[in-house]
Amino acid sequence: MRYQHHLFICTNERDNGPCCATRGAFDVLKAMKHALRERGLDHDGGIMANKSGCFGLCEQGPNVVVYPRGSWHQIHTTEQAIALIDELASTPGG
Ligand code: FES
Repeated sequence: MRYQHHLFICTNERDNGPCCATRGAFDVLKAMKHALRERGLDHDGGIMANKSGCFGLCEQGPNVVVYPRGSWHQIHTTEQAIALIDELASTPGG
């Protein structure tokens, strides 16, 4: 199946310098996956969320990219993570 929205959440960890892993990416990923499951949006619901490697904006993370629409997001709280899921749920994918 083709997902309406596919989220890539950077969970990369760097040895020196800021990185999404130490800036809360795993909490963001967990909140998103929980919200997707709770709303029946994962798998056949049309929205997929996966871990990703570095996007190069490490000091601004956790960074999330949504395809196919190609939007970039800095998500710093679980509330922002859930808000993005809710926004995608009401937005048709490309
Ligand atoms: S560590 Fe996430 S963008 Fe580089």
